[in-house]
Amino acid sequence: MKYFIILIFLFLIINGLQAHNNEINVIPKPLSVEYSDGQFKMDKNVRLFTGFQPEIFKASKAFIDYFRFEVGFHIDIDRAKEDKIKYISLALTDTAEWCGEEGYHLEIRENGINIIAKEEAGIFYALQTLKQIFLYSPNETGGFEEKVFYAPACIINDKPRFQWRGMNLDCCRHFMEKDFILRYIDLLSFHKMNVLHWHLTEDQGWRIEIKKYPKLTEIGAWRIEEDGTRYGGYYTQEDIREIVAYAAERYITVVPEIEMPGHSMAALAAYPQLSCTGGPFEVENRWGVFKDIYCAGNDSVFIFLKDVLTEVMALFPSEYIHIGGDEAPKYRWENCPKCQKRIKDEGLADEHELQSWFITEIEKFLNDNGRKLIGWDEILEGGLAPSATVQSWRGFDGAYEAAMQNHTTIVSPTSHCYFDYDVATTNLEKVYSFEPIPDGLPTDKYKYILGGECNMWTEYAPQELIDSKVFPRLCAISEVLWSPNEKRSFGEFHKRMENHYTLLDKLGVQYGFENQPVIIEAYTNTVNSNFKVSLIPGQEGLQIYYTLNGEEPDENSEKWVESFYSDTSFTLKAIAIGPNIKSEVYTREFKNHKAWSKVYQYNAKYSEHYPAGGEGALVDGVRGTNYYRDGIWQVYRGVNLEVKIDLYDTLSINSVKAGFLQSSLSWIFYPEKMDVFVSLDGENWEKAGEYVNLWPQKDEKMVHADFEVRLESQEARYVKVYIQNMEYCPDWHPGAGSKTWMFIDEIIVE
Ligand code: ACM
Ligand code: ZN
Repeated sequence: MKYFIILIFLFLIINGLQAHNNEINVIPKPLSVEYSDGQFKMDKNVRLFTGFQPEIFKASKAFIDYFRFEVGFHIDIDRAKEDKIKYISLALTDTAEWCGEEGYHLEIRENGINIIAKEEAGIFYALQTLKQIFLYSPNETGGFEEKVFYAPACIINDKPRFQWRGMNLDCCRHFMEKDFILRYIDLLSFHKMNVLHWHLTEDQGWRIEIKKYPKLTEIGAWRIEEDGTRYGGYYTQEDIREIVAYAAERYITVVPEIEMPGHSMAALAAYPQLSCTGGPFEVENRWGVFKDIYCAGNDSVFIFLKDVLTEVMALFPSEYIHIGGDEAPKYRWENCPKCQKRIKDEGLADEHELQSWFITEIEKFLNDNGRKLIGWDEILEGGLAPSATVQSWRGFDGAYEAAMQNHTTIVSPTSHCYFDYDVATTNLEKVYSFEPIPDGLPTDKYKYILGGECNMWTEYAPQELIDSKVFPRLCAISEVLWSPNEKRSFGEFHKRMENHYTLLDKLGVQYGFENQPVIIEAYTNTVNSNFKVSLIPGQEGLQIYYTLNGEEPDENSEKWVESFYSDTSFTLKAIAIGPNIKSEVYTREFKNHKAWSKVYQYNAKYSEHYPAGGEGALVDGVRGTNYYRDGIWQVYRGVNLEVKIDLYDTLSINSVKAGFLQSSLSWIFYPEKMDVFVSLDGENWEKAGEYVNLWPQKDEKMVHADFEVRLESQEARYVKVYIQNMEYCPDWHPGAGSKTWMFIDEIIVE
């Protein structure tokens, strides 16, 4: 009998452990959680109690819909409580002052759940928390089949740190379907984000129907790709109303971005008379910054933009309208009589003040219509429009400066918030380390920091890649923006993140990696003259496989276990494979040549932002890839580079070459010319040949090439290369007159 009781006891304990977790696993982390004994069981008999407050019904609709359509529970709503029914009770109360606009109090007990909030958004967020708690309670299948969920007894008090928790989605470079946007609204609200910043107009496509200007979508929404195919799409006003209403039910404000004066080639293709030159133009099919922008001297431009904004305001109830303002080259304005006349008539100093005047005109119009203007941090240049909000993207300076000028600001620096960047550049931990309050900002200015945003630009991300770019990084930024920073750490967040993947799986999120999945650490040991290569998995649960013979690696290739050494040339190909995830193949070329690991002198300092391997990098045998931030390219700006290499011995030389990268729209150009000299004593030099660059510069893709000078068994101990840089971006270039960047990976002597 005694043993029987113990057995039953054990059975209950084990069963209990299987049925629920003792702790909740919620992202973003709530402000406070206090556990008590027991757990609440959620099944189809549970009902919602809302009293007679219609706002509560609205705030719980998304929760009810989720359980009805995804789980198969029809959750009944009672206005008055019945006996013997378990309730999730919801109430709005003025006494919950501390909750503010979005906070809530959530009390989970075995016999019922109580939620109170001051405002309806608080009720909504409490239910989002509850949804995460339920979805995390596992059943045997890990799915919804059992239709039973558990929540541990606890009391949660929660509210956000920042009021602006946004994601910018660029639907212009690539078009996203309406259902995809609706799905993102769900995913954002699941993580308590409350702004969808919707980038709707660009050089490469105008995506919003404007009834008064039909050519914006007839012409502007479509581009002809390099291969002749037609690409595009747009949202009808009806689509937009549906999206905005769906978002509102999830307490997300959709903030439209209508770009001006730059990034407007699609609009100019439709209405070329709005430009300085009159066109004609085509909707751009290349990525970059383009010099044709709206003419600031042409009054019809302002009539057009105000008409467009009138229709935009009718569709979007958002208090804020984003007008872009970034990356507007001033070249056309400098050369346009109408723009110059405007500068003169308005008493402006230059084209920057003209941009400021342009934005202020638009701001007045928005303000007259009860709206506020947001612009990227370029709107600070030439003077900030009187009540504009600044979105800081080029670091934190724009946010700092705006706040110091008593202007509200949204912080979204490329360093932490650009999810179009690869995880090799901006990994999960980096995003989590984002602190929206700029360093050194006086505390009395904190109130101007509305919050932050992540940015999903889509030049290289069609719809099917968005999940893998946005997740898991969105989870990190949601916590940065919601949870108090003194109560969280990456290590603790990461444990919750590991559990949170099961929720993302249930929601069908095709998340990507937290970090570069294969980290290749390679260096040249100059003492032993060999390469040491280590392959490090970027996150837990990954195994790396590799080949050294040029074949594509898979799970049957060599498994990486420890560092290996080589003193010969080889091509490494590596892949990381995890339970539900497989990385791309990472390729690295290692080159053993006559200058490899030798000593050299050089005349100019490389950029501290792109040091590659620092001293010695130009003869370390590691070849650069087609990715300019791979850490292998060493960068020089606006200088000619001279490198003198000592080969230690007099050797017979047949070839001297150097590797360069070009991405001209990023201001990275091949050098103009490379001269090669040789010497036996390091003092008397003989010119051995030269390479004059004939590669096209207007190729907007990233390309790389070796510049080679052939010799005929030339005897030399010393080799000197003199690389003549482009110096300035040429006249045709949007950055005309600015200093160019020169990217070099290796000088190879054979
Ligand atoms: C931006 O990334 N041009 C705002
Ligand atoms: Zn003009």
